[in-house]
Formats: sequence, C-alpha cells, structure tokens
Amino acid sequence: MSQLPSITDPNVLIGTKTADDAAVYRVSDTLAIVQTVDYFTPVVDDPYTFGQITAANSLSDIYAMGATPLFALNIAGFPADTLPLDVLSRILQGGADKATEAGISIIGGHTIKDAEPKYGMAVTAVIHPEKVISNAGAKPGDRLILTKPLGIGIITTAMKQGKVSEKSIAEAVAVMTALNKEAAEAMVAVGAHACTDVTGFGLLGHLSEMVRGSGVGAVIKLAQVPVLEETWALVRQGIAPGGSRRNLEFLRDRIDAAPGIGEDELLVLADAQTSGGLLIAVPASNSRRMNEELGRRNVPIAAEIGEIVEDPENRIRIEP
Ligand code: CO
Ligand code: CO
Ligand code: CO
Repeated sequence: MSQLPSITDPNVLIGTKTADDAAVYRVSDTLAIVQTVDYFTPVVDDPYTFGQITAANSLSDIYAMGATPLFALNIAGFPADTLPLDVLSRILQGGADKATEAGISIIGGHTIKDAEPKYGMAVTAVIHPEKVISNAGAKPGDRLILTKPLGIGIITTAMKQGKVSEKSIAEAVAVMTALNKEAAEAMVAVGAHACTDVTGFGLLGHLSEMVRGSGVGAVIKLAQVPVLEETWALVRQGIAPGGSRRNLEFLRDRIDAAPGIGEDELLVLADAQTSGGLLIAVPASNSRRMNEELGRRNVPIAAEIGEIVEDPENRIRIEP
C-alpha cells in the first residue's frame, strides 16, 4: 500500500495511514460510512462453522470502530470441480446465520472458481464522524481490556495435527464464532479512547499498532491475560502456527519481557488469532463501569490485562 499514491480526499477520516481496522469516510457532518473487507481459507473442517467464524471475523473490524453494521456482501472462492456445491452452500448458510444474529442482511456478493475454498465479507456500517473509535487514540493511564481469550492459533494448529482434545476444539470454536457485538455495545456505552480487534498479528502485534498510532507505550500483566485452557500445554510441546512465530520475530525489538517471561509466553501473546476479541483502551476512571457493562452483556471472558503508559519509543513491556 505504501507504493500507492497518497490519499488527498478530505472526507477520508481513516485511510491506510494508521493500520486501523476499517476505512471511515465522511458523507456529511453527522454521518460517516465505515467499510471493511476480509476473507480467508478454512480454519475448521465443518463448512457451516467456517462460514460462521468468517462472518464473525468480518464484522469484528466494524465493531472495533464502535460502528453499527448495515449490510454485507459475500466474497467466495470455490473449487467447484473437486468439491460438491453443497459445501459452498453450507459455508454461505453459516455466514448468513451469523449476519442474522448481528441484525444485518447479506444483500449480494461474488464467487469465483478457486483452487481452495475462500470465504469472507465486505461489511458496510455507519457512525457519527465524531464518535469513531480508532486504534490511535490511546492515552497514558488508560486501562487495556481484552474481551476474548488468546490461544486460538495454537489450538487450531494442534487440531490439524490431531493433538488436542475435543473439549478444547469446542472452546476455540465457541470463541471464534462469538460476535464482538456485545463487547462493542459496552464500549460505546461507556466510551473508550481506542480499540482494535485481535486477529492475525496477535495481541502484541495489534497492541503494537495501537501504541505506535497513539504515540504511547503499554504494560501487559501476563497473569491477567485470559488464555484458552490447553494452550500452555500445547505451546510447551512446541506447537504454534508459523504466523505466530513470524509475529514474534517481527515484534521482538519493540517488546521488553521481565525476567522469567520466556519464549512460550511471548508466543502465546503473539499468537495469530482468527476472530479474536476486542482490545479496548479505556480511561482509568471508566474501567470499572466498562467491566460492569461487559459483565451485564455476558461477554464471557473480558479481562483488564494492563495499561497504557507514556513512552516516546512506543514499546510494550510484559510483566508477570
Ligand atoms: Co481488525
Ligand atoms: Co480484518
Ligand atoms: Co478501531
């Protein structure tokens, strides 16, 4: 993207500059469009579940901006010569049911022939231009709240190798298919300085984008970070996706780990998530209300995992 001409349209409120979750375009003084597109290859074998996960993930970028989704379009690739078409219709059914749960319709789309299945959505949403929650507004003293547990990448990798229990797979699927809708509603009700959703770059990667965009640093308390149960045992057996290892290598110069925090811990914090939770920076004075609002909406595992600090070098410190 850095090779492309720079954006000069003054109505572009959020474009490609800050690595945010969605594009935001001002239509009038009271209305902005929030737009995202996301798609990927199957993370689970069951087509219906894959459709649900993909839709939840696509909507997540909208929720991370504090916006209200209006409708979605499907994008799919499918090997029609080698797989029965019924598989495609079950993927789309999963997506459609998740969209219904989010309160929106899928009103169009496009499918091409492809060597492997791919599915995703372009989601269109609206927001008041002054209420956009970017990933670049965090301030020193803000508390960091994470609304889903980590470990999805490690558990789905172990699943492909047949090395994880059915119970853990079911837990990971429940986390991936859960919408970030309620978490976003709590965030909008209370007010937040910044938000992003935790996906492919892991908690550390997306937090790094937040602290760099905001001109601050962060401290993470490892013991307070929610992690799916079997994750620690799996990472100690050396199981982690290549993407999570690459995340950690990429971020290594930007993190300071306290003594006793080793590679396994850092790998979990950098684990590439599919349809992960929201990472919210909330003013300290609002953090109790935020926890109450999240609890009231039954967001299953929301935890305060650290805070934003002053740091012109935008580093992330990890403490026990
Ligand atoms: Co995102
Ligand atoms: Co995304
Ligand atoms: Co955002």
